[in-house]
Amino acid sequence: MKIIGIVASPRGARGNTARLLQVVLEGAESQGAEVEVVFLPGRTVLPCKACDTCHKKGRCPQKDDFESIKEKILRSDGLILASPNYIFSVSAQMKAFMDRCCGVIHCMAFEGKYGASVVTSGVGDEKPIADYLNNFLITTGTRPVGSVWATMGTISGEDFPLDIRSQALGLGKKLV
Ligand SMILES: Cc1cc2nc3c(=O)[nH]c(=O)nc-3n(C[C@H](O)[C@H](O)[C@H](O)COP(=O)(O)O)c2cc1C
Repeated sequence: MKIIGIVASPRGARGNTARLLQVVLEGAESQGAEVEVVFLPGRTVLPCKACDTCHKKGRCPQKDDFESIKEKILRSDGLILASPNYIFSVSAQMKAFMDRCCGVIHCMAFEGKYGASVVTSGVGDEKPIADYLNNFLITTGTRPVGSVWATMGTISGEDFPLDIRSQALGLGKKLV
């Protein structure tokens, strides 16, 4: 059982989103999953050029990390998408990744996998973003099992409050 988490924050492993994802992955690991995190700090997955090659040939011709990330996902059983709230939506890095999945979507290439979403924000509005990520997962063939989010402006200190931690651990377990 392999689970890939994709973090689309330029703040990487030290960012809020990666830290919340880490708790979800702890839950998954507690049930025996092997986990891996892929960071999209920018420029690793470029925006879609609408060249249509992915529909015709099944691969994107752009020379970046997208195809290798796609292969990793194809070899995995579970996929967690983690994004900060950037202006009521996902980050540009996550949107570029989603757009590049156009070929994946057209043949539902991730069919049979299970997924989840993780969102953090400064002041709120996470649910529509988590729903958007999970709806995207459905279009790829992935079956979402839930989501977790945190409003960082309401949290003092480094650790997530117990209720959010417990939701995140539970999500990781459910995913497995
Ligand atoms: C460009 C940008 C846009 C943001 N837009 C919002 C927003 O619309 N609403 C909100 O609540 N927080 C917003 N935030 C705050 C981030 O969502 C929040 O700090 C998040 O936890 C950052 O996650 P990270 O540490 O993983 O990057 C924004 C931050 C940035 C840098």
